[in-house]
Parts: sequence; C-alpha cells; structure tokens
Amino acid sequence: MGEPYRKDLSHLTWDEVFARQALRADLVGDWTEALQIQRGACVLDIGAGPGYVSLELAELVGPDGLVCAVDRSAEALAYLATLQRERAVTQIRRVVADATTWDPEGMRADAALVTMVLHHADEPLKLLANLARLLPKGAPLVLGEFHPDAPCEVGPPQTVRIAPEELQAWSEAAGFAVTGYKRQTPEHYMLALRNGSPAMAI
Ligand SMILES: C[S@@+](CC[C@H](N)C(=O)[O-])C[C@H]1O[C@@H](n2cnc3c(N)ncnc32)[C@H](O)[C@@H]1O
Repeated sequence: MGEPYRKDLSHLTWDEVFARQALRADLVGDWTEALQIQRGACVLDIGAGPGYVSLELAELVGPDGLVCAVDRSAEALAYLATLQRERAVTQIRRVVADATTWDPEGMRADAALVTMVLHHADEPLKLLANLARLLPKGAPLVLGEFHPDAPCEVGPPQTVRIAPEELQAWSEAAGFAVTGYKRQTPEHYMLALRNGSPAMAI
C-alpha cells in the first residue's frame, strides 16, 4: 500500500506522476482533437506536471509551434527539462508559476488544456477566470477530470473529485461555454469549451 493521497501530490515522486500520466495516454487524442491543434500553434498546458502531455503536444505543434508548460512546481518542470534535453525537444517553454495569477506578458495562445489539475488546485475557479482573461475570445479549452461516480480504482479518492456539473458551473462563471462533454473511461471525463461563447447544456 502506498502513501495516502495528498492534494499537493507530495505522496508521489515525479517519476510516479509521470508513470501515471503515461497510463492515461489514451485520453490525450480526444483532448487534442477537441483543441484542433495545428502545426505552428501556441498551446498552454496548464498544470503540466512532469510533462508527458506537453511532450505529446510538442509533436503536434511541431518545431515552429510552442507549448507553454505552466506549473507551480519547479521540480516537476525540472523533470520535464531533463526529458526535453534527452529528446532534443526545444518547442516547450517551461514556466514556474501559479496559474491563478500567471500573466503570459504578450504571448498569444491559440488553445489551452487543464487536465487532471483542478482537483489539486487551491482556487480552481480563480484559475479558470485567469485563463478566460488571458485566452483570446473563441479560443478552445479542454478540461479533464476524474469522475466522482466511478470505481476510483485509479486517481484521487472520490471525496476530492469534481462532478461535471460543478466543473461546468465554474467554467461558465469564469466566462467559458461548454461545447462538448465526453465520459472517456469509467474514471475520466472531459469538457470541451470556448472562451466567451454562448452556452450549451450537457
Ligand atoms: C496530476 S498533475 C497533472 C499533469 C497533467 N496536466 C496531466 O494531464 O497528466 C497536476 C499538476 O497541477 C499542478 N498545479 C496544481 N495547481 C496549480 C496551480 N494553481 N498553478 C500551477 N500548477 C498547478 C501541480 O503542481 C501538478 O504538477
């Protein structure tokens, strides 16, 4: 039996977090499809952790694109830096910052994803509101979370999981509109959204 779950992930090493990201690899295709990522695009990976998803995004945007991997943990991004060096990936910019207050200072992002992050965040609504402020109007956003009505055989305990309806309410309060919902597995779901678009019921 491992260490009990902690919201700040201190019960796991970054190696273990990366291994868990790799186990969720099958979720990434739905996320990138919803974001309609083009080569040369600039994509924000908010709460990137040790960077499994950032590396997948880097393949899609290509050498002329940019993935901005934002995380409050310098250690997580140092893990990603090592992988980038080993794999000679230069189109990922790592930013150690709290995404609730981060200001990209003139960077124009085309799309963003916040996957398996908000149940770790201290102020998830504030994080979404900051994202709505810094993304262009109409830009796509994908949110991925663990479903509370699930076996809970992987991921966080049921008590910290965020229901889709709650996530939709937070997103709408922040200024996003839901354009799609998918239960990807019994444990995982995603919301596709647009910044400042008319709302859709899920
Ligand atoms: C489980 S990892 C998720 C990694 C990745 N997004 C994925 O889909 O696998 C959660 C990450 O969110 C980060 N995080 C949580 N709250 C944050 C915040 N307010 N600002 C920046 N990063 C945050 C944590 O440091 C952690 O690395």
